[in-house]
Amino acid sequence: MNLNRVIAIDGPSGAGKSSVSRIVGRKLGFLHVDSGALYRIMTWQCLVAGVDMEDPEAIVAEARKVAIECRPENGEIAYYVGGEAPGDRIRTPEINANASKVARLKEVRDIVTALLRSMTKYGDLVVEGRDIQTAVFPDTPAKFFLTASAEARAARRHREEVEKGIAGGGTDAVKASLLARDKIDSERRYAPLMKADGSIEIDSSNLDLDQVVETVMAALPSDWK
Ligand code: DC
Repeated sequence: MNLNRVIAIDGPSGAGKSSVSRIVGRKLGFLHVDSGALYRIMTWQCLVAGVDMEDPEAIVAEARKVAIECRPENGEIAYYVGGEAPGDRIRTPEINANASKVARLKEVRDIVTALLRSMTKYGDLVVEGRDIQTAVFPDTPAKFFLTASAEARAARRHREEVEKGIAGGGTDAVKASLLARDKIDSERRYAPLMKADGSIEIDSSNLDLDQVVETVMAALPSDWK
């Protein structure tokens, strides 16, 4: 039996999950796992293969072919496809617009969920996503639901895109794209975005990163720190 620990951090796009998860992981020596990147890789590979994104069967057939190699590296689980790191190729507006169409499919979710569960073999994990506390690791005692206003989330995402040089529009366009994605993610049939019982909700609209990290750290089981 694998006794490695998991911190689950879920919430909508732009709530600050990545920054918080990375810092908490670094403080504790837990590997950071970005589960959204796995759905983005599936989406990217479907687009590269020219799959019709309105055809669920074609998406599932393509997703079954995608081989994602996972390696613990520099405090995180790094992903490789065909020996290459996807990098910003999975952060484009086109992938933003199509990822939730891929992530809503049960067969794709089953593949990603199995991959995520297998990662506990590498060590303790801090996993960010949408269904980590409800579906992937529901038994963990460390569950957090990070939220923020739509305005705060859009402003954050836009800033990140500008910093990376991949901004496709202004804050309003980012907000519209993010709300459209959140709607599908929250209303889908399988493993929708939601807070689990016993999870700690943190609204980061008016908190800085350090305050959110401190809130998470303070709520962890005492023998994890
Ligand atoms: O967090 P992100 O924006 O990189 O996520 C990309 C997409 O994958 C988004 O539509 C939400 C979805 N996702 C999901 O359904 N379940 C997860 N555990 C993580 C992400």
